[in-house]
Amino acid sequence: MQNKIKLPGLIDPHVHLREPGATQKEDFETGTKAAIAGGYTLVLDMPNNPIPTISPQALQEKIDLARGRIYADVGFHFGASSKSIQYFNEISGKVFGLKVYMNQTTGDLLMEDDQTLEAVFSTWPKNLPVLVHAEGDTLQKAIFLAKKFGNQLHVCHVSLRKEIELIKAAKRNGLQISSEVTCHHLFLTNEDAKRLGAYGLMKPPLSSKEDQDALWQAVVEGTIDMIASDHAPHTRAEKEGEKPPYGVPGLETTLPLLLTAVNDGRLTLERLIELTSTNPKRIFGILQQPETFVEVETIPYTLNPNNLFTKCGWTPFVGMKVTGRVKKVVLRGKMVYDGQNIFGPYGQILKG
Ligand code: DOR
Ligand code: ZN
Ligand code: ZN
Repeated sequence: MQNKIKLPGLIDPHVHLREPGATQKEDFETGTKAAIAGGYTLVLDMPNNPIPTISPQALQEKIDLARGRIYADVGFHFGASSKSIQYFNEISGKVFGLKVYMNQTTGDLLMEDDQTLEAVFSTWPKNLPVLVHAEGDTLQKAIFLAKKFGNQLHVCHVSLRKEIELIKAAKRNGLQISSEVTCHHLFLTNEDAKRLGAYGLMKPPLSSKEDQDALWQAVVEGTIDMIASDHAPHTRAEKEGEKPPYGVPGLETTLPLLLTAVNDGRLTLERLIELTSTNPKRIFGILQQPETFVEVETIPYTLNPNNLFTKCGWTPFVGMKVTGRVKKVVLRGKMVYDGQNIFGPYGQILKG
């Protein structure tokens, strides 16, 4: 691999910027600085805030809070709940997708009731993706519903071989289905979970080496469409508390880890660009950011939490040797990162 490489600005379809309501973990400023430092010029924010993004007012509040404070471009996903169905048409022009939580995780958006799920899938506009947090067998239900109601389905954080099999079968059956995998599932396993304790706790949990091998194969051969960070920061105090919350940060470590895979011959650079830019753009209908690019350098170093921009200040990849560092980020012709300092804020709210 050449020493210096130019990439398109990366796009992350799945981040938790935590504002409003959990700004001890992250906020629009620190989260989008972390994005830029990680080579991401555009991120899509999830709705599972303490006051969830399930009403036009909550969505507007996010847009108002983000304005003038974001370093990368930001778009939003809306949250599914029995109370939010009534607003689907009203807000659909302002968001990139609908997030449906079909398993228990951080936040209060769990939906298990079949009747409400049917109402959600049947009401959501068919030109925008339904993103599901659906682990293992739950994914079967999501695929069944998307097929029944003709939805465009996006499967978040695939972590198991059996989920890949379900996605492949759904593709063969002609369902409009896309999926993402995270770097924590690609680079860590349940063996690391023992060492990491609460810092390796997330949903879906770290899986076995066999599952991880299946994820890599699916990434390489094209069953998986995207890499998402699922950047889900929590404070050290929360992680070290009685009941540690699920989630790990990822915006600043994803590209270094993927470049390491390229350097090791596990992934081609062409595929890296498809997974982190071309495919998310196509599937979420994201417009080109003009004069926007990232320069990276393939030098070896060890990941450490000291110079991270994320407010949480830690990474589950601490101590890992990587080859690949972000040297420069340019957003719409302006240098926003020089390898050390962030400049801005020059981010725009998308569809807001
Ligand atoms: O580990 C996770 N953390 N999984 C999720 O689904 C939610 C996320 C969070 O918001 O912390
Ligand atoms: Zn999730
Ligand atoms: Zn998430």
